[in-house]
Amino acid sequence: MFIVFDGLDGSGKGEMIKRLEKYLVGNGFNVLVTREPTDGEYGKQIRSILKEEKDPKKGAERCLSLFVKDRQEHLDEEINPFLEETGAIVICDRYYYSTLAFQHTQGVDIEKVVFQNMNFRTPDIVFILDLPAETAIARVDKRGAGKEKFEELEFMKELRKNFLNLGDVLDDNIKVIDASKSKDKVFEQIKKEIDDVLGF
Ligand code: TYD
Repeated sequence: MFIVFDGLDGSGKGEMIKRLEKYLVGNGFNVLVTREPTDGEYGKQIRSILKEEKDPKKGAERCLSLFVKDRQEHLDEEINPFLEETGAIVICDRYYYSTLAFQHTQGVDIEKVVFQNMNFRTPDIVFILDLPAETAIARVDKRGAGKEKFEELEFMKELRKNFLNLGDVLDDNIKVIDASKSKDKVFEQIKKEIDDVLGF
């Protein structure tokens, strides 16, 4: 099974992924937690752009090309081989939903972004953790790690809309989760959906 979490920076993906991993390992599954951008060659280039480049709308095409190359490598080298093992579940923090939302918000046509991502493996289930951009940015500020390229309020408002529109653009099994609630409540919604998929 291939599970993806996506959404705004500050939406709480990290905490939910930790909880889900614990739950699935506890039920005997063989779990790989991974993320994009990766720590590979393209992922490293992306991270340096994210730190150094402050204008969120700049460098859209370059970002698109790097995220797509990073994803291909991630699938070929990590995700696909792991999914061949018995009882394997991959939980991926961000995937092509981020490219559709972020690089489209940066200004690339949605059709072009979809076209470049359409041959990638489709996840079994995708959680889009949704919350107001103001709440997300306040959480990012609280971390005190400084702001990255895309962590700017107006950009994040547009981004949220684009994440919520993904259901109209794709046929994927997308579950939009209200991530403004308490951690326990958010996880409860996720666990319910996972139990459905697993037949628990
Ligand atoms: P993030 O999950 O914030 O990584 P980290 O915790 O290591 O900073 O991802 C980095 C940023 O890259 C984030 O703002 C989302 C953005 N992004 C895209 O613009 N397109 C993509 O395809 C992906 C995967 C991420």
